[in-house]
Amino acid sequence: MKTYLVTGGAGFIGSNFILYMMKKYGDSIKIINVDKLTYAGNLENLKEVEHRDNYKFMKVDICDKDKILSIFNTYDIDIVIHFAAESHVDRSIKNPEVFVNTNVLGTLNLLTGAKQAWETEDGFKKGKKFVQVSTDEVYGELEDDEGFFYETTPLDPHSPYSASKTSADLLVKSYVDTFHFPANITRCSNNYGPYQFPEKLIPLMINNALNGKKLPVYGRGLNVRDWLYVDDHCKAIDIVAEGGPIGEVYNVGGHNEKKNIEIVNMVIDSLLEMLPEEDPRRKSISHDLITYVEDRKGHDFRYAIAPDKIKSDLGWEPETPFAKGIKLTIAWYLENMDWMERITKGEYQNYYKEMYRED
Ligand code: NAD
Ligand code: DAU
Repeated sequence: MKTYLVTGGAGFIGSNFILYMMKKYGDSIKIINVDKLTYAGNLENLKEVEHRDNYKFMKVDICDKDKILSIFNTYDIDIVIHFAAESHVDRSIKNPEVFVNTNVLGTLNLLTGAKQAWETEDGFKKGKKFVQVSTDEVYGELEDDEGFFYETTPLDPHSPYSASKTSADLLVKSYVDTFHFPANITRCSNNYGPYQFPEKLIPLMINNALNGKKLPVYGRGLNVRDWLYVDDHCKAIDIVAEGGPIGEVYNVGGHNEKKNIEIVNMVIDSLLEMLPEEDPRRKSISHDLITYVEDRKGHDFRYAIAPDKIKSDLGWEPETPFAKGIKLTIAWYLENMDWMERITKGEYQNYYKEMYRED
C-alpha cells in the first residue's frame, strides 16, 4: 500500500486532491495530510474522508524542520505531493516574508526530510517520488495575445509569490541535479472549482454577487488567465506522480484563456440562469455591480500554458470545458452557502476592508 504525504491538504487544491484520490483508489492507498491550517486551510473540506482508517490529519507547520524530519522517520512515505504554500498574489505584495518562509524554507525542509528517509548507499529507494506543485507564474507574463509558456520558457517571476515559488522550484531542481533525487515539478495555470477561498477571482465574484456587493475588477479587466477545473489538475498530479521520469517538469493548463471581465460577466449570467425565479437574491444581481478598481501592482498581463508535453509523454489532457466547469462550481457554491458564510465571518472581513478599502 502506497503512503502519500500531502502537504497543504486542507487548502483548495489539496482538499480536492485528497477527495479525488480517495475516490479513485479507495482503501488501497494511505494519505497523511500535513497542514498548518492558516486562514486558507479548512478541515471542513475533508469531512467526507476524516473517519477513514487510511486517512490521517496532522496539524504541522512545514517550517518546523524537526517535526517534518520526525514525520519522515515515523512513517514510510512513498509519495510527497507538496501543495502547502501561501498562494495569494495580493497578500504577497503586502506581506512577502511569510511567502519566503513557507514556500521556500518549508519546501527545503520537506526535501531534507524526504532525502534523509529515502537515501540508500547507491541512490534512493525504489518507488519514491516528490511532486512539487508549482505554478505558471514562475514564467512571468506574456505581454500580448501571442505565444504560450513551455517548460523551456525562462523563469522570470514578477510578484513576491511567484518569486518564492520559483525559488522552491529551483531548490527541487538542485536536489535532482545534485543527488538525482526522485522529483517532478508541475506548473499549472489558474484553477477553479469547489472549496476555493473567496480571495480568488471566481469565488469572490460569486460570493459578492450573491450578496449584492460590488464586483471589483482590477484595471480594465483585460488581463488574461488560463482556467483549469480543479479535478483535471488533480488527475494530472496523480499521473505525474505515477509516471513522470525523474527531474521532468510538466506544464498543466486548460486551453481556456479568458479575460477577467469575461469571467465576471459569465459568473453574473450563470447565476441569473441558475437561481430559481423566486430567489430574492436575483433582484440585486446585475452587470451594474461591476466596479473597476485600482490595478494590482505589477499585474501580469497574460498567462497561457502549452500542455503539449504532459499530453505527449503521459497522455493527460484537460477534460472539463469551461462552460461545464463554471456551472459545476457555481452549483457547488449555491449548495454550500453555509461553508462560505463560515469562512467569510471574522478575519475575512478585515482582509476585505483593507484590500478593497470598503465595508
Ligand atoms: P490554498 O491557499 O487554498 O491552500 C494552501 C494550504 O497550505 C492551506 O491549507 C494552508 O493552511 C496550508 N499552509 C500554508 N502555509 C503552511 C505551512 N507553513 N505549513 C503547512 N501548511 C501550510 O492554495 P491552493 O490554491 O490550494 O494552492 C495549492 C498549491 O498549488 C500552492 O502551492 C500553489 O502555489 C499551487 N498552485 C495553485 C494554483 C491555483 O490556481 N490555486 C495554480 C497553480 C499552482
Ligand atoms: O496562474 C496560477 C496562479 O493563479 C496560482 O499560482 C495562484 O496561487 C493563484 O492565486 C492564481 O493567481 P492569480 O493572481 O492569477 O489569481 P487571482 O484569482 O488572484 O486573480 C485572477 C485574475 O483576476 C488576476 O488577473 C487578478 C484579477 N482579479 C482578482 C481579484 C481577487 C480582479 O480583477 N479582482 C479581484 O478582486
